[in-house]
Amino acid sequence: MHFSLSFLSLVSGLDTVIGIYGGTLEVPCNSGGAVPEHLLFSKWKYDTDQGLPGDLMVKQNGQEATVIAKDPYKNRVSMADNSSLFIAEVTLDDQRTFTCMEVVVGIINEYPVNVVIHKAPENLELLDKGEELEIGKLAKIGQCNAVDANPAANITWYKDNKILSADGKGVIIETSVLVDPVTGLSTTSSVLKYTAKKEDVNAVFTCGTMHLVGQPQVSSPVTFTITYPTEHVSLQVLSEGLLVEGDNVTLRCVADGNPAPTMFNFYIKGEIINVVDSDSYTMKDITRDDTGEYKCSLAEKPSLEASANITVSYLNVELSPSAQLVKKAGESLAVALNVESSGEYKVSWTKDNSVVKMDKEPVFNNLTYGDSGRYECQVTMGPLRHTASFQLIVEGAPVIRQLAKRRGEDGQHKVLICEAEGYPKPAVTWSVNGTSIDESPFVNGKITHKITVVPAANLTVYCTAFNELGQYVQGINVSSLFVEVRMDKQDQSEEGSQTKLVVGVVVGLLLATVIIGLAYGIYVKKSKQGSWKTGELENGSSEEEKKLEEKVEENSQKADM
Ligand SMILES: *[C@@H]1O[C@H](CO)[C@@H](O)[C@H](O)[C@H]1NC(C)=O
Ligand SMILES: *[C@@H]1O[C@H](CO)[C@@H](O)[C@H](O)[C@H]1NC(C)=O
Ligand SMILES: *[C@@H]1O[C@H](CO)[C@@H](O)[C@H](O)[C@H]1NC(C)=O
Ligand SMILES: *[C@@H]1O[C@H](CO)[C@@H](O)[C@H](O)[C@H]1NC(C)=O
Ligand SMILES: *[C@@H]1O[C@H](CO)[C@@H](O)[C@H](O)[C@H]1NC(C)=O
Ligand SMILES: *[C@@H]1O[C@H](CO)[C@@H](O)[C@H](O)[C@H]1NC(C)=O
Ligand SMILES: *[C@@H]1O[C@H](CO)[C@@H](O)[C@H](O)[C@H]1NC(C)=O
Ligand SMILES: *[C@@H]1O[C@H](CO)[C@@H](O)[C@H](O)[C@H]1NC(C)=O
Repeated sequence: MHFSLSFLSLVSGLDTVIGIYGGTLEVPCNSGGAVPEHLLFSKWKYDTDQGLPGDLMVKQNGQEATVIAKDPYKNRVSMADNSSLFIAEVTLDDQRTFTCMEVVVGIINEYPVNVVIHKAPENLELLDKGEELEIGKLAKIGQCNAVDANPAANITWYKDNKILSADGKGVIIETSVLVDPVTGLSTTSSVLKYTAKKEDVNAVFTCGTMHLVGQPQVSSPVTFTITYPTEHVSLQVLSEGLLVEGDNVTLRCVADGNPAPTMFNFYIKGEIINVVDSDSYTMKDITRDDTGEYKCSLAEKPSLEASANITVSYLNVELSPSAQLVKKAGESLAVALNVESSGEYKVSWTKDNSVVKMDKEPVFNNLTYGDSGRYECQVTMGPLRHTASFQLIVEGAPVIRQLAKRRGEDGQHKVLICEAEGYPKPAVTWSVNGTSIDESPFVNGKITHKITVVPAANLTVYCTAFNELGQYVQGINVSSLFVEVRMDKQDQSEEGSQTKLVVGVVVGLLLATVIIGLAYGIYVKKSKQGSWKTGELENGSSEEEKKLEEKVEENSQKADM
């Protein structure tokens, strides 16, 4: 061998290469420096457990490398042209020093390399999770294991994603590392003990590792039921708005402990009522007598108690009369509204389904038909509202209030108007045959009936109004217009067509009696068509008509002569 002729050079400083457990590791020669010129051969060896060197590979310049290793490297090593050593399936057993030796003429260079193998933890498990945490008491949150790592993994605890640091009191973290005697891999165990506070009710705990290699790992989150004893109770009155007589009211005793207590005492009117598996007590159909102070307490600790005041409001309305009543016109009716309430109230009155509003209750000293209707009063107190009503019917036998006559617009007929009052609705009849009957609506006990008549002679017309309570008859004198104008021979200032015709007759009479007869004939014909008028006072022209009638008398006498 040429070794003895060469000068051995040991490069100072030890390179370290880090390999990933289970992978293939490249161990460079001379830190990856260039292969020297005139290299005779290169060789890799390693420090055996006994401290002696063991050969791995050798490579003559320009030739293939040759494995000269024995177990455990025989089948796992190879060498590249650049002199790098490759070791497959590295384990912690490969953490040792490997030395590259390069031989040129006269010089032997040795480059030792330290190999370190890293392994991220296999998995991260959070075990022994407790169920409940009692506030103020140190309790084990769980044990977190980072399995089979190298170097041993560091475990970090988080509460709501914020790092928990051990403080020796509220937060205690106990860590231990167990090394597998076969693989040499380390399993780190960390136990977190934690003293819960009230604000930890929804806290989420996790543990995690951030290894030198691999991705950071985080355990699945764990949560706890935080328990704490009751410190306060309160008494709630469950009701919507005002409590009113007849309501059901539920009292609820609320304790701030967790889990919530399941037994309570309610103090209802001097009685102690024990409630189990519920925090509520319901009083049914309360009355004004239930107004007062109520208490509840924890059954197990009666000194923890709370109280609440209950006020039961009431509003009773009595209206007299109620329902329906029938009275006679002219009678009186007393209306009485009696209100019983726990506070101030307002009353409003309406008639006939709010059509008529009234500012106070109705007073009926002298009932009229118009008073008939449905009267409703509404009494309100805050959100409470009561209504009461009665239906009033004022009845009476009919009375004819007005019987009148009017001249028709064309002067050819007469309109008779009969206005009757009574209830139930009076039927109206006439003693003559009329035409174009017009009947008004029946309002406030009044009805108006109109007929058009064309009487052939003076007559008294009777209007009869009747209902089941009685009847009323009234007459009116109606005279024929024909009689009044038949003899008129004088010139009148009136412009009516009848008067003009009369003037014509007078002129004709002066000329020839034959013509008088003719003119008379015309008048008879005209009266048959309905031209007539009465001798009574009529709208507007009563005086003139009286005069006209007198003159007609005179003229008719002259004509007869
Ligand atoms: C040496 O050669 C191998 C195979 O060609 C290559 O994978 C490796 O990166 C090289 N190493 C250096 C330090 O050049
Ligand atoms: C563990 O923590 C120590 C100190 O912070 C650190 O030096 C070490 O590299 C960590 N180990 C791993 C495996 O991350
Ligand atoms: C009160 O409770 C009873 C029985 O549970 C029920 O019949 C009644 O309607 C309730 N009254 C009210 C005002 O809710
Ligand atoms: C209930 O009313 C009484 C008397 O008015 C009063 O002394 C007490 O403080 C009230 N209680 C509550 C809980 O309001
Ligand atoms: C009632 O009213 C009617 C009609 O207005 C009247 O005739 C009558 O005298 C009144 N009666 C009383 C008692 O006031
Ligand atoms: C009304 O007319 C009918 C026939 O049109 C007649 O029979 C009856 O007598 C008349 N009644 C009166 C009151 O004139
Ligand atoms: C109607 O005329 C008669 C006589 O024909 C008379 O007795 C009566 O008083 C008159 N009635 C009216 C209301 O004028
Ligand atoms: C009709 O009555 C008037 C007075 O109202 C009288 O002058 C006339 O003679 C009467 N006619 C008949 C036909 O009765």
